[in-house]
Amino acid sequence: MNDTTIKKTPIDACVVQKKLRESGLEKVGMASIREIVRLVNEIENETGEKYVRMEMGVPGLPPAQVGIEGEIEALKNGVASKYPMIEGVDILKKEISRFIKNFINIDIDEKNCLPTVGSMQGAFASFLVACRRDVNKDTTLFIDPGFPVQKMQHKVLGLKYETFDVYNYRGDKLKAKLEEYLEKGNISTILYSNPNNPSWICFTEKELQIIGELATKYDIIIMEDLAYFAMDFRKDLSKPGEAPYQPSVAKYTDNFILLISSSKSFSYAGQRIGMMAISNGLFNKRFPDLKRFYKTDEFGYSMVYGAIYSLSSGTSHSAQYGLAAMLKAANDGDFNFVEDVKEYGERAKIMKKMFTDNGFRIVYDMDEDEPLADGFYFTFSYPGMDGVDLLEELLYYGISAISLSTTGSERHEGLRACVSQIHRSQFEDLEQRLKEFNEHHS
Ligand SMILES: Cc1ncc(COP(=O)(O)O)c(C=O)c1O
Repeated sequence: MNDTTIKKTPIDACVVQKKLRESGLEKVGMASIREIVRLVNEIENETGEKYVRMEMGVPGLPPAQVGIEGEIEALKNGVASKYPMIEGVDILKKEISRFIKNFINIDIDEKNCLPTVGSMQGAFASFLVACRRDVNKDTTLFIDPGFPVQKMQHKVLGLKYETFDVYNYRGDKLKAKLEEYLEKGNISTILYSNPNNPSWICFTEKELQIIGELATKYDIIIMEDLAYFAMDFRKDLSKPGEAPYQPSVAKYTDNFILLISSSKSFSYAGQRIGMMAISNGLFNKRFPDLKRFYKTDEFGYSMVYGAIYSLSSGTSHSAQYGLAAMLKAANDGDFNFVEDVKEYGERAKIMKKMFTDNGFRIVYDMDEDEPLADGFYFTFSYPGMDGVDLLEELLYYGISAISLSTTGSERHEGLRACVSQIHRSQFEDLEQRLKEFNEHHS
């Protein structure tokens, strides 16, 4: 803390300092999300003050009722005692395939649509197969900024990765930047999230086309992480079978795996169920080097009966029925899942204005020539301050976030704010705290 030591801050500075010391964290600004969660919990407990908590990306809305009902019915029918099929129950596979057709306008066989224990497991299983299919291709390329846990998964698996921050390589510039990596021949997979966690940038059709065409040219598998499916609220992506559709690299290459989470779009994070969809071409493709790890050289077979089998023998039986019920309702046009989560975009719009009105700047702010969407996350900075210091300083003002430095971003001045936990009743507090911060620092 700098000059705020002599200024009264919204949260008792002595308690914040004490808790920072006790946390043992060398730099709180470099702490993981869960470490910040713990620290803020402790400060809240001791001071009795409520923070504006923007550090963790958890859904802040109730789960879709149709999912809960589907799950309860399945439990009543006795599924809890039975092992589910590893590749997923038929009704769910059918609805995933329909969902992808209805909302991305892509055809993927039911067989190639698999439930996973959250997208988190979907990514882990994909790394286990996609990154080991060719002895010469042993490195993942992350188009950053990104979700830090996927890099942790690489470390746990002993896999290599390279990364670059896409901030300066939007639009046409993306092609040359990607080729810089792909020409070396060691890249197995490319992973990005779209909309992006943490920056909320959304790739344009032009960018997705570049990525897709290069994937085909260099035989790279694209892992497209659609954790925030249909949540670019600038367009209405909610109508089944009607354009506009969720943009996807799947339009431009056959070398892809889609990871679709139910956590945010369906507020279903607690049930740990996600979807993995492997393109028809890739599912049936053979890679002799897979035999080093799996019984067969077939990509899809190795995924199901090699990777997913050995990780968890499939996905919770009742959750599969819950997800199937939500997807069916969405596919049939009976349930507008996007409408349910639009609230995030509305909150973001109001909160971003509060920040910019009080001297802060939005860090990632454009998709090529279009202003960024308002959604689950936004990024911000304060002139003259490094992100790591800004994060620490904001703790004295009852505001928590995470540093972009932990996400592979080169915008070290930036922080990520997640809007999901902030209720409108807290807006007044947020505005007041930002105002005070600005008065103390400008
Ligand atoms: C980009 C991204 N990918 C994957 C996940 C994990 O999703 P799931 O809850 O389905 O495991 C998250 C969750 O925050 C995320 O932000």
